Amino acid sequence: METIDSQGRTAATQTDKLLFTPGPLTTSRTVKEAMLRDLGSRDEDFVATVRSIRNRLLAIAGVSQTSGYEAVLMQGSGTFAVESVLSSVIPTEGRLLALVNGAYGARIVAMAKRHRIPVTVIECPENEIPTVAQVVAALSADPALSHVVMVHSETTSGIFNPVAEIGKAVRDRGRSLIVDAMSSFGAVPLDLPTAGVDYLVTSANKCIEGVPGFGIIVARREPFLASEGSARTLSLDLHAQWRGLEGNGQFRFTPPTHALLAFKQALDELDAEGGPDGRAKRYRNNHATLVQGMRSLGFEPYVPEAHQGYIITTFPFPKNPRFTLEEFYQRLSNRGMVIYPGKLTQMNCFRMGNIGRLYPKDLQALVEGVRITLTEMGIQIPV
Ligand SMILES: Cc1ncc(COP(=O)(O)O)c(C=O)c1O
Repeated sequence: METIDSQGRTAATQTDKLLFTPGPLTTSRTVKEAMLRDLGSRDEDFVATVRSIRNRLLAIAGVSQTSGYEAVLMQGSGTFAVESVLSSVIPTEGRLLALVNGAYGARIVAMAKRHRIPVTVIECPENEIPTVAQVVAALSADPALSHVVMVHSETTSGIFNPVAEIGKAVRDRGRSLIVDAMSSFGAVPLDLPTAGVDYLVTSANKCIEGVPGFGIIVARREPFLASEGSARTLSLDLHAQWRGLEGNGQFRFTPPTHALLAFKQALDELDAEGGPDGRAKRYRNNHATLVQGMRSLGFEPYVPEAHQGYIITTFPFPKNPRFTLEEFYQRLSNRGMVIYPGKLTQMNCFRMGNIGRLYPKDLQALVEGVRITLTEMGIQIPV
């Protein structure tokens, strides 16, 4: 018999390094085990699983088909799902307003340009948030702007952007809001109708703690159906994907069957934890444990506390010339802890995520690992 620890990890899974990253993430043993089946894409069990997953996703978003929303699953990583929305729902005469304060917002602008969608950009520093006033000014200046896109939890820095406030302004002005909620959905509550979100995008392997393999789109049916015929690609055509799922319940192309089975188990585990509120509680505890510990070593988060989310935290490099990310990363990795390089344009930094199947004790272990690593590198503490 395998020994399972209090967090549901076995000796085998404990030998895997813990991933303090924005993804792929550490997942539970039971989520991985759920993949030990081969189901055909037309199998009744599989089709029923997909249907139930789609309904459960709507429930997490606080909406339903009856209230006018649809959940669509799209093969690929999160970026594919974002590109599917952008390239499917903006008509030829549409114009996009993109709010950018990090790499994922910038990626959306690159996508729009690739699809020749006219795009206006409001860019602000990576540790600041866009304001309602900026958005209102841009929308008033250009009546042709039909869609606004923003990132909820900008994983580049860990900042939370004010979706609800901006969403209300966008809705009041009759525009459509697309939200990249990749690293927030499932753990950061967001009321879609109140926030005026028409399209929300996330992925299987973020806060819901499934394995990578597909993205998720929750769309308000009315604008979604009205935009049918706008798709600029075949494989990422969101309407065609939805019609397939609604029609015979199947994906148009080979479905990520194993990832979907894992996801069903991940949804059960999310429920068991108390849904998004319960998950938020654990992630908040993880984040608080990390920040308190890192502060005790002399590290200060890059994002001001008022805007700092509880998903991932960016720390600027210590000023000590002995510090190199390569050595710091490798020594931590050798101790079984994987952190993430920074992605800021202006500053050398590293990131530490606390989502996935991680608990405060894991964050405590990470801080202790950092303390030992700095000592080994001859770096004085506090840094
Ligand atoms: C906010 C955000 N958007 C988009 C992505 C891209 O997702 P993927 O790497 O799964 O394509 C990520 C990935 O971390 C993200 O955090």
